[in-house]
Amino acid sequence: MFYTIIGTQWGDEGKGKIVDWISSKADLIVRFQGGNNAGHTIKVDDKTYKLNLLPSGIINNKKCAIGNGVVLDPWALINEIDNLKKDGINVNSSNLYIADNVCLILPIHKILDEINEKERGLKELGTTKKGIGPAYEDKIGRRAIRICDLKYPDTLKQKIDNLHRYHSDKILKYNEKLENYYDKLLSISEYLNSFTVPLWKIINELGKNNNTIVFEGAQGSMLDIDFGTYPYVTSSNTISGQIYSGTGFSSRENFKILGITKAYTTRVGSGPFPTELFDSIGDYLGEKGNEYGTVTQRKRRCGWFDCVLLKQSIKLNGITDIVLTKLDVLDELKEINVCVGYDIDGKKYDYLPNEEFLYNRINPIYRKIEGWQNNTFGISEWKNLPKNAINYIKTLEELMETNISVVSTGPDRKQTIDINGTLMNI
Ligand code: GDP
Ligand code: IMO
Ligand code: MG
Repeated sequence: MFYTIIGTQWGDEGKGKIVDWISSKADLIVRFQGGNNAGHTIKVDDKTYKLNLLPSGIINNKKCAIGNGVVLDPWALINEIDNLKKDGINVNSSNLYIADNVCLILPIHKILDEINEKERGLKELGTTKKGIGPAYEDKIGRRAIRICDLKYPDTLKQKIDNLHRYHSDKILKYNEKLENYYDKLLSISEYLNSFTVPLWKIINELGKNNNTIVFEGAQGSMLDIDFGTYPYVTSSNTISGQIYSGTGFSSRENFKILGITKAYTTRVGSGPFPTELFDSIGDYLGEKGNEYGTVTQRKRRCGWFDCVLLKQSIKLNGITDIVLTKLDVLDELKEINVCVGYDIDGKKYDYLPNEEFLYNRINPIYRKIEGWQNNTFGISEWKNLPKNAINYIKTLEELMETNISVVSTGPDRKQTIDINGTLMNI
């Protein structure tokens, strides 16, 4: 069986928690896009882990892999591995594979990320400044350094020089200092290459032999470079189709595509957000949900659940099941709004139009649902949920025309309801 974990909104839906939960049954967990712009939080008993680049299955002592669709910052990776070691989790070549064709994020990319944001001025995207966009640009521009290049010091030098020459005008214009990191990179190359494998080959063999593979998405569908709220998006494809080009896996059968979905909506960084709340309820969601970015510590913007976006995500990803997270955050609300359509200049829309100039003219059409004003935190059995919480879940299911198979009521892996008991019975 193969599982794909996809964020259906603007990220931070609780993907890390669900990957950790499902990984107990998995043989391999693979990241297929993004980089260390991701921040996945996993709570196990009284310990909290924060991962940016490593697949969340690593916490459960599982074999993990970083696919070629990821852009990899070598120093960020080493940092993360070192930090996990302090928590007693050892990462080595027996539990981490890295695709040998993965492209690197280098120090120049972080500088370019800063410069590009400065140049955008008022139209700043609010990136994580981890160098993600510039690294993908170099990949598509066919100038990138791939991890396998680290084995060949002479050509590596030429490739870095070539890369720096290409960007030199911009770096000079902003008077940025660019350190010479060639030697530093060489000094870690052997270590990095101890993890590299032709992942596409291994993963297809594993897939053929009845192994359970989990594909761990980062970011969310509305941050997808093609289908998100462009240009306020990340620089990779975040939707499920990306698992194929981001890993080389080719089986199209036996997939469950889980859409990880917050019971309300959040967004960090700039860009349209039709159901955003600017009132005390927005503040309440932010505080109760502890909505602060893992990577940049920025306050996340909060708003009501948006079925228009969800239906779009479900179609784009081929979602088979919804996993509804953070239900407990709504516990105290008397009344909950759910967006069921958009009104733009008097015209009704059942999807988010691509024209940027329409983004700020969207008026959400809401349906009101009665709250439950009861504690759901930590509930792990369906029958113990309050009647109105069940009604909320059922209403969302009807509106989205998709089954909600799992409900999460807290950050810990135990605080999870597998409604029909089918997902974990792999
Ligand atoms: P990801 O990027 O999709 O993995 O999500 P993040 O880890 O960035 O953000 C989700 C946050 O919500 C984390 O702090 C989780 O520990 C927490 N979380 C996940 N599921 C639940 C839940 O059901 N209830 C509550 N209260 N917190 C949750
Ligand atoms: P996880 O995996 C939420 C946002 C940034 C910014 C935009 C572009 O934790 O859900 P980038 O640095 O990627 O060029 O920034 O995308 N962003 C995320 N927002 N969760 C994430 O990841 C994100 N990764 C990037 O805030 O608006
Ligand atoms: Mg996150």
